Order: sequence, then C-alpha cells, then structure tokens
Amino acid sequence: MSDELQCLNLQNGVKIPSVAFGCAFGDWVGKSDFQGFLPEQAWYAVNAALDAGYTALDGAHVYGTERIVGSILGQRLASGALQREELFITTKLAHPAAPPHINLSHLRTWDADKVDSIEERLKDDFARTLDDLAFGYVDLLLIHWPGTFAGTDASFAREARARIWKTFIELYKKGATRAIGVSNFTKEHLTSLMEDVSEIKPMVNQVEYHPYCQDRSLQEFCQEHHIVLAAYAPFASGAFSMLKDPVLVKIAENHRVSVGQVILRWHVQSGRCVLPKSSNPKRMKQNLALFDFSLSDEEIAQIDALGSGDPQRTCPDPSSIV
Ligand SMILES: NC(=O)c1ccc[n+]([C@@H]2O[C@H](COP(=O)([O-])OP(=O)(O)OC[C@H]3O[C@@H](n4cnc5c(N)ncnc54)[C@H](OP(=O)(O)O)[C@@H]3O)[C@@H](O)[C@H]2O)c1
Repeated sequence: MSDELQCLNLQNGVKIPSVAFGCAFGDWVGKSDFQGFLPEQAWYAVNAALDAGYTALDGAHVYGTERIVGSILGQRLASGALQREELFITTKLAHPAAPPHINLSHLRTWDADKVDSIEERLKDDFARTLDDLAFGYVDLLLIHWPGTFAGTDASFAREARARIWKTFIELYKKGATRAIGVSNFTKEHLTSLMEDVSEIKPMVNQVEYHPYCQDRSLQEFCQEHHIVLAAYAPFASGAFSMLKDPVLVKIAENHRVSVGQVILRWHVQSGRCVLPKSSNPKRMKQNLALFDFSLSDEEIAQIDALGSGDPQRTCPDPSSIV
C-alpha cells in the first residue's frame, strides 16, 4: 500500500509523485510586515530540499524562483548526483495581475484582456521559464488561475481559458511538457473548458486544500474525469492556528508523528498530491516520511469533518473568478 501511494497515474500514463516541494517563497497570510514573494529564500531551501530527497518541485513563472531552481539543479546534474529523468518539474503560466500590496513582478503577470495576443504571451513566458530552468521540457504545465481577479466579462474569460488550453495542447504535442493541467479551477471552469476544447482534458487540478478548506464535490468531479487533485498550501501556509487543532494534535500523538505529517498523510491517503513548503531541513525530511504509518478510516473521517464549515483560504476564492 505504501509504495502505491508514492505516485499517482495521470490520464496519459505519466506518473506524478504524490509529494512535491513547493517553490513559492514569501508571505501572503500576514505573518510578517512584508507581503509578497521572496525568491531569494529559494537558494537555501531548494538545496536543502534536494538533500532531503525531494525529486519533484512545484514552481511557477510568477514565483521568480525558476532561475534559482535551474542553477541548483544544474549543479546536481553536472556532478552526476541527479539525472533529468529522476526529476518531476511543474510550472504554471497565466497568472493574472494581482493587488499592488503583493509585490508580483508586472513582467510575470498579465490579464488576458490586456495583452495583444494570449498565445504569443504564453509562448514567450514559457520560453523564459525554460531558459531560466535551462531545461528543454517540463513535466507538468498548469494554467495558474482561471482568469482575472476582478473580471466581469464571463464570455471573454471563458474564451480566454479555451485559447490558453489550446496553446497548452500545442506545447504538449511538441513534447515541451509531459503533462498539462490547471490550477484554481472550480467544477464550472472545468466543465466549460472541457465543453469548449474536448481534445485533451486537464490531467491535474491544483487547488488550495487543507483541513480547513475542503471541497469533496470538486474531488469527486475530478475523479470522474481522471483529473488528479493536487493540494496546495497543505498547512494553510501556517495560518488559522490549524497546526494546533486539537483533533490533529491528538491523531499526531497517537502515531508519534507531527501534525504536519498527519495532514500530508491524510491528503495522500485520500488520493491527492501535496505540495508542502518548508525552510527547515528537519521538517522537509518529515514531510517526505509519510509512507510508514497510516491513518484509520475513523481518523480520516475526523479530519474530513474539520472542513464542514466555511472554507478558510490563504489565496483568493476561485469561485469569484468568472
Ligand atoms: N497554484 C497556486 O495558486 C498556489 C498557491 C499557493 C501555493 N502554491 C504551492 O503550494 C506550496 C505550499 O504552499 P505554501 O508555501 O503557501 O504553504 P504550506 O506548505 O501550506 O505552509 C508552509 C508553512 O508551513 C510550515 N511547515 C512546513 N512543514 C511543516 C511541518 N511538518 N510541521 C509544521 N509546520 C510546517 C512552514 O514553516 P517552516 O518553513 O518553518 O518549516 C511554513 O510556515 C507553494 O510553495 C506553492 O508551490 C500554489
């Protein structure tokens, strides 16, 4: 059972590791005065994550860390310590413009209604990502968000998603990525996209998912369509005191593991990939050590029950995007 959970099969037969190291650094939940991306933290953390044993890395054009990830991986590839085939590299494109208090580079974000050509912009951004990584292909390419944060024109937004997806299919067919998918898509975004472009369905949907933010109907919908659900911010980015929740603490004590491990095990045992981020080598290792204990059905049900209230989110609610 343990080995089976270490990877999931995508609908095209590609195997995706269930645990990938999150490569977005910064603060979005108000724990510090500074709000935004801090790519410089990746120099230490990504090196330490590779030392801890991660081979799957979750990145995005907008994180500003792909040049750092590329440099660090380059050194390991050069020394022969790693082979390209052992790695699973995810990137995301098409991040909409974000509120000014988040210091996103305007060079890496855009709204589909503000660019001359959606297709050209995507291809340029993808070329920059590959250049930064110094890679010829990635393993997974995702649409970062389904549309503009404050958009109101639903028919334009729907058409833009279809155009982005057709461009992704073109890149996939060229071999520039081994798999394609989406992120922050609701059932409605997925349904309209699959109606508009039926050739290839999204293979992954990466969404915010943790004990205080659950959506079982989205997971069931994804399962029906052979779309793997990947959980981002699995620890709610450390917010809402979730890591101190008495239900989680008790389960962790029962198994003599950390609350973080309980949450990650709950995810993988429920059929989801997870993307934990840590800056601490001890916790990085802990977050990979999920396969020599298992939660009982009752424990899984107790954690499921923590999501029965309104979702608490660290990122915007995708259902607000038309
Ligand atoms: N697709 C999207 O739109 C999207 C949006 C947000 C995030 N993501 C992806 O998801 C990844 C993770 O999300 P995130 O960075 O927001 O948050 P996260 O992984 O939920 O939480 C990170 C926080 O949890 C702490 N932590 C890590 N391991 C722990 C453990 N075992 N026990 C207790 N605390 C632990 C970390 O502290 P220490 O550093 O001190 O260990 C850090 O404060 C990102 O890096 C990114 O790849 C995707």
